[in-house]
Amino acid sequence: MSSVGMVISSEGSEIDVLVKSEQVELGTILKISDSYGIVAYMLYKEDEKIGSKQKLIARVQIFGKVSDGNLARIKRPIEPYTEVLLANKEELEGILSSESNISMGRVYGTEARAFLNPAEYDRHLAILASTGAGKSYAAANLIKEFSSLGLPVIVVDTHGEYPKLLSKCVEKSTIIDIHTVKHPKQGYKELKIPVSELSAEDFSHFIYLNETQKSALGLILDRLSGREFLLQDIIGECDNVDNDVIHEETAKALKRRLMGLDRIFKNVFDKLGTDIVGMVKPYQITVIDASYASQGVRQAVVSYISKELLQGRIRKENQMENGVEFPLLLVVEEAHNYCSAKLSHSCKYQLQRIASEGRKFGLGLCVISQKPSKIDEEILSQCNTGIYMHITNPNDKDHIRKSFESINDEIIKDLDSLDVGECIVAGAMNRIPFLVCDVDRIEVEKEKHKKFDFKVAQKVEVAGFGYA
Ligand SMILES: Nc1ncnc2c1ncn2[C@@H]1O[C@H](COP(=O)(O)OP(=O)(O)OP(=O)(O)O)[C@@H](O)[C@H]1O
Ligand SMILES: [Mg+2]
Repeated sequence: MSSVGMVISSEGSEIDVLVKSEQVELGTILKISDSYGIVAYMLYKEDEKIGSKQKLIARVQIFGKVSDGNLARIKRPIEPYTEVLLANKEELEGILSSESNISMGRVYGTEARAFLNPAEYDRHLAILASTGAGKSYAAANLIKEFSSLGLPVIVVDTHGEYPKLLSKCVEKSTIIDIHTVKHPKQGYKELKIPVSELSAEDFSHFIYLNETQKSALGLILDRLSGREFLLQDIIGECDNVDNDVIHEETAKALKRRLMGLDRIFKNVFDKLGTDIVGMVKPYQITVIDASYASQGVRQAVVSYISKELLQGRIRKENQMENGVEFPLLLVVEEAHNYCSAKLSHSCKYQLQRIASEGRKFGLGLCVISQKPSKIDEEILSQCNTGIYMHITNPNDKDHIRKSFESINDEIIKDLDSLDVGECIVAGAMNRIPFLVCDVDRIEVEKEKHKKFDFKVAQKVEVAGFGYA
């Protein structure tokens, strides 16, 4: 293979390469003697040593040299004037390969599969990018890959796009189990939340309750406890309270609020609720299509599912009954709606618990968002793998810089230059400092409609007058 550059300076594990080929770009993986490095930054530089002005320089991060099939860190700098080659497909796949592999695309500009280590799923992932950059397609590819290894996946689908995306890419033997929220659809199951499992605190996240109303509700729930009941039963109990314990006006106000809640959560609450434990099966992807539900209902759903999954895994770990049998991945689309820094809702606290404790119980979390700066820093910082696509917003970049250890300033700068379907992967699932990846395309037929297809109202002439 012919040389694509030459080392002109070298310090520690960083080298500057004088670029001699158009094939060298940001993210290109290079072979320098027996070491490998990745182009982290490119610039034009004026330098007497080069002997000419304004030459293209690639700043390369050396991530190791191959010894006995493993990547070992280099202990002395690369020698200047060494010729630089492109790593070939076999070398690239060898470098990226772990004990088991998944891949959502190819190493940028090559035919090599961009292997990631699936075993690190429980150290959590974040897919972050501006709108339309290709987050959902990237997530669908990842879900497909995880489920091909048998890992159960549950997806909170805010826009109802995953049934179609996944049906186009998963293996035929994978089961896609769809549950709708607040919108019965023929052939689909409906997700239900059991009222008798909610605490007064949970209710206070769904509707505004002042402290007096909250404690009154707590007393009513205590009275009903031990049996399965509906929201109507709680509302009925508001008329039967002992006025020495709960003031009449408090009971009336609480009843009004609960009646409002009953309207918003119509078709969502019921006695038994959906069996979340039963959703977690190997080679099954469960999609919760929440596209028809209001924000409040979606948040309640995320809160319920997250709580059930974590508690189920904890029960399993402690060999208790009704445990969630298998490790799993929970994918949350539009995560800024459920774990924004400013949100005070049980869904955020449940996701925070998964982010901090999930790993111990084999429960991985994948958050997807077009507004990274809105996501709670505590949750983002627990995501040890970052998949970043095109991002221009400086606030979002700043937030990412603060939240992720695995990302450096150079990668942040590069996020502007990514096209649709291109991503940078950095962190636990990746063996090298970062990787630029072309995400596989999923062929989904688009409904054809033109953006500017407005109809002009026809004018009708009646007795000399024009009517629209
Ligand atoms: N890997 C890819 N290769 C080619 N085109 C892609 C790829 N991924 C996405 N696209 C194109 O970009 C469009 C937007 O992708 P996608 O819906 O995944 O973006 P998004 O970031 O999830 O957007 P939103 O913020 O609206 O959810 C798709 O309809 C598709 O046409
Ligand atoms: Mg999307």
